Amino acid sequence: MIRTVILGTGAAVPKKVLTNQDLESMVETSDEWIATRTGIKSRYIAEDGETTSTLAAEAARRALEMAGVKPEEVDMIVLGTTSPDMIMPNTGALVQKHLGAVNASAFDIYAACSGFVYALTIADKFVKESPEKKILAIGSELLSSITDWQDRNTCVLFGDAAGAVLVSGSTDGDRGILSTHLYSDGCLWELLYIPGGGCIYPPSAEMAEKRDYCIRMHGNEVYKHAVRSLTDVAWEAIRTNNLKPEDVDLFIPHQANIRIMKKVAERLEIQEDRVYMNIERYGNTSSASIPVALDEANRSGRLKQGDLVLLDAFGGGFTWGAVMIRW
Ligand code: UT7
Repeated sequence: MIRTVILGTGAAVPKKVLTNQDLESMVETSDEWIATRTGIKSRYIAEDGETTSTLAAEAARRALEMAGVKPEEVDMIVLGTTSPDMIMPNTGALVQKHLGAVNASAFDIYAACSGFVYALTIADKFVKESPEKKILAIGSELLSSITDWQDRNTCVLFGDAAGAVLVSGSTDGDRGILSTHLYSDGCLWELLYIPGGGCIYPPSAEMAEKRDYCIRMHGNEVYKHAVRSLTDVAWEAIRTNNLKPEDVDLFIPHQANIRIMKKVAERLEIQEDRVYMNIERYGNTSSASIPVALDEANRSGRLKQGDLVLLDAFGGGFTWGAVMIRW
């Protein structure tokens, strides 16, 4: 049976680190509040020259290097983002240019924090159709560019980062992507959204002054939906594959809040030592959070061949989804 396998992983972050202490001098907040309510201690924030596409290209280069694959061998780039370099061209096309991936088609997936899980699912479908294809699935964000730095409800949460995987087809036993599960509910869009910058409310001086190009979130409501949807879709992935929660060797949920991750793990009855949590150092990096965590787990030797890995995402839209992988 042909399955989609991950040949290489990579991640990249900006140079600058912004700590909770730094934020204390920017808005009325405290290290204690941020750490206890979210689990975040610091995050990376881009400076001049660092963009969603440059971080994505760096993460992709590392994934290609691990896989021993040249940029010109890449057939497709699928990039999840909510903070593209520009509206047009798509950021995937700019990554193609940075890499010199001259034979690759490229496009963006616009599914907020679920962007990487959506991108990986699409890559999986293309590989199933043409197993020889080599596809980069990427999640990359410069959330700092769409963060309201005067709104303490949101500005303490987000960070910038990129993560990438290179996938292709394999007949190597049971290894590879076992199942993918995607959902959305557009009726709940007003709980997490960016009001300005689109055709309904185009860019204007007024929009800029009100910082309406930035993320607005009803945190409490999002929290409840996140716990429910992450739990439900993870259960679906486990049951679809006739598995039990205790079979999962590494659970990688979207890193939005340490309390959400712990609550979902508790409901799934997955022990905490099997839950990958790195939000402390990155904050919420939206579509980048899962591939960054996957790359860390991979490079640190936490993943062994044959391990069951469960990816679980939730974000604006709402969108959510899971991917079950035999490593
Ligand atoms: O990535 C996509 C999905 N996103 C998520 O899943 C995020 C989901 N939501 C959350 O993670 C949490 O709801 C937050 C971390 C955003 C907020 O935590 P919370 O425990 O739900 O806090 P809250 O919004 O209920 O606010 C509690 C209090 C409020 O004060 P009052 O009204 O009780 O006096 C806030 O004004 O905390 C206050 N507060 C802050 N205080 C210090 C809110 N932000 C801050 C802050 N520093 N940065």
